[in-house]
Amino acid sequence: MAHSYQLGILAMYLSERRLEELAFFRKLSVYGHKLGIEVLVFTPDDIEGSTLKINALVYRPSNGRWQRKRTALPGLVYDRCRYHGADNYRKISRFRSLYSKHIRYLSKPLTNKWGMHQILSENSEIAEHLPATVRYNGNKHLIRFLKKHKRIYLKPSSGTGGRGIVRMQQLGSSSFLIQGRDQNRHIIPEQTVSELQIETKLSTWKLNNRYIVQQGIPLTLKNGRVHDFRMLVQKDGNGEWQVTGCAGRIGPKRSVTSNLHGGGTAVPMISLLRSRFQDEAVIEGIKEDAYRLGMKVARFAEEKFGPQCEMGIDLAIDPKGKVWLLEVNPKPSREVFYRIGEREAYRKAISNPLEYAIWLLKKRSREHTSRLDARKNNLPE
Ligand SMILES: Nc1ncnc2c1ncn2[C@@H]1O[C@H](COP(=O)(O)OP(=O)(O)OP(=O)(O)O)[C@@H](O)[C@H]1O
Ligand SMILES: [Mg+2]
Repeated sequence: MAHSYQLGILAMYLSERRLEELAFFRKLSVYGHKLGIEVLVFTPDDIEGSTLKINALVYRPSNGRWQRKRTALPGLVYDRCRYHGADNYRKISRFRSLYSKHIRYLSKPLTNKWGMHQILSENSEIAEHLPATVRYNGNKHLIRFLKKHKRIYLKPSSGTGGRGIVRMQQLGSSSFLIQGRDQNRHIIPEQTVSELQIETKLSTWKLNNRYIVQQGIPLTLKNGRVHDFRMLVQKDGNGEWQVTGCAGRIGPKRSVTSNLHGGGTAVPMISLLRSRFQDEAVIEGIKEDAYRLGMKVARFAEEKFGPQCEMGIDLAIDPKGKVWLLEVNPKPSREVFYRIGEREAYRKAISNPLEYAIWLLKKRSREHTSRLDARKNNLPE
């Protein structure tokens, strides 16, 4: 099929000339081909500033190869850059400041965990689902918060993938459990300490005011592992928000996080809920609450940060069935649905951004035509 539309994918070289997420981009290209939208993968290294041309990678389904194509910078871009290190950060910031005026992004950037918490707190319907959260402000303050909530999580405000996360629990009047993961995501096994020892034990994590301290939701399953849920909320081909799917994640042994990259296992939401709650009506109610919250968060984030096309929402469901919002991820992966065998959700997770992009491009060209018509007929635009 001839391509009437184009979507740029802004990516990043991991090392040498190896691109992150290339398998995802290949799937986007194949679906795109069927839908009539050409997918152009490029990085900040692939642009010729003087001509606004890019040296893009284009996947050819006919021969199964990626080929280079020199073409104009696309007007619509799906930003999949994640920040790995200072060099990449500089590159992407430079790209943004130089070229963003020529580009409409499918999603605008969100902010870090602390900023997100503050903004989401402004919405009372969302606020009731947020765990109590403060910024790290010294150990005295931290211990007071711990004694109040009995279980807390310390997380780097800009961290991802479960790096640098600590969980603390109060066991007795001066007995506390500390465990977590270091900056390289290695598991730091649990240690029981007294109040006086907390300071020394925490020194491993180099806490500062870029850390947040959060009420911990009890999420330990009977087998001793923690769990939570990852929901994918996306815009569809009519520009409407929808929940594409929601999957459970179970952390590996001795882990305080359930992230798949940290060794977690994906399971269908329903089987995880059934293992914890007996009544089907209760389960249905929890699912509805979770879905409603996911949609609310997506709409509100869009109101606050500008247009968005998708987000990955981390949810926790406590033993009473209350739904909590743990985190909002602006550049979610979609492999969970493949792993749990939900092929339809997986397919939609890939096709939605493309269909939404086509919807946007069509809307744009309609608006453009009506402006031209108005001009031709001397009508107000
Ligand atoms: N308040 C909390 N109560 C209970 N568990 C939590 C809490 N906060 C985080 N966790 C656990 O730690 C995991 C990682 O936390 P979070 O998603 O906030 O950090 P992250 O490093 O940004 O992860 P990612 O970028 O992979 O989504 C969660 O998926 C959950 O398993
Ligand atoms: Mg997360």
